[in-house]
Amino acid sequence: MREKRLAIVVVAAMLVGYVGVVVLGMLAGAGGLRWSLWPAPHARQWQVASLEQLPEPQRQLVAYGKLLFNETPVYAPGYVGGRTACGSCHVQGGIAPQGLPVVGSARRFPMFSLRARRNITLEDRIQECMTRSENGRALPAQSLEMRALLAYLGWLAEPHTAEEPFAGHGLALLPPLRPDVPHGAQVYAAQCAGCHGDDGAGKRRPYPPLWGADAFNDGAGMNKPEKMAAFVYVNMPQNRPGVLSPQDAVDVAAFIHQQPRPAYNHANDGY
Ligand code: HEC
Ligand code: HEC
Repeated sequence: MREKRLAIVVVAAMLVGYVGVVVLGMLAGAGGLRWSLWPAPHARQWQVASLEQLPEPQRQLVAYGKLLFNETPVYAPGYVGGRTACGSCHVQGGIAPQGLPVVGSARRFPMFSLRARRNITLEDRIQECMTRSENGRALPAQSLEMRALLAYLGWLAEPHTAEEPFAGHGLALLPPLRPDVPHGAQVYAAQCAGCHGDDGAGKRRPYPPLWGADAFNDGAGMNKPEKMAAFVYVNMPQNRPGVLSPQDAVDVAAFIHQQPRPAYNHANDGY
């Protein structure tokens, strides 16, 4: 009897706590973040440390890593399988709140990976994005490309003395909604096709493909409709973010999910 009452109290407390967090998250939304699970009043772009103050050759390596990150198909053509750059998904060079930022990633790894079911390093995580999101192949461990990306991510993890901690990690949290694919097709034609193409194949840089031979493959995180919806809700359309409702974002992600894309190559399962 006692245990039962205790259990009810615990469940009630958890519910109140959860609702509180969501409400706080929505309040934070008024300050820039949208539908976030965590209150994040300082959700603004990460202020990067000064590149100029880095010693050579570190400065050059970081600068090259930044180029590689933002224009991966141009600078690592032998390794990417399509026309998607790291920065196509990790918006604004990986510093935009709720735009899959990689600020601080270099300090969070090694980390347990549910996908790999083991602890993985930052290098492993980069290789996952290379073989899935880039539909490419792994970078050789000692290659200039890998060293440059690590240097860039390391630079984005430099602690700033005068800065508040970065808010806006990951993606926004959308309420669970039932997708309406025909409506998603309408949203796509009206709001997305102008930059991503009627056929989803993208346009000249920086407009990435969303499906077809040059897009991310079906093993990529972005291939999960709920992830894409949360990404799109905050970050797209790129020239007018904020015009989509959560339902629009869920619908258009479900529509894109139905389009063809390359299959993930399981030979890369080691990463
Ligand atoms: C098609 C979209 C896409 C592309 C392209 C892409 N990524 Fe990612 N990346 C993701 C997603 C999705 C995640 C997982 C984020 C999550 O669920 O928390 C991720 C996670 C990461 C993380 C871990 C972040 C953290 O702190 O947990 C790193 C580091 C990373 N990517 C680096 C890269 C690099 C380097 C490239 C280019 C070689 C790249 N990504 C290309 C979508 C992409
Ligand atoms: C004004 C041009 C423009 C419009 C309109 C636009 N996008 Fe984008 N989209 C981009 C650019 C540029 C990027 C690369 C990231 C960045 O620079 O913000 C991108 C990136 C993306 C990505 C991640 C990259 C990838 O390979 O998956 C997705 C998903 C996406 N857009 C979906 C959409 C959807 C859905 C719409 C319509 C609701 C839309 N976009 C409308 C320009 C646009």
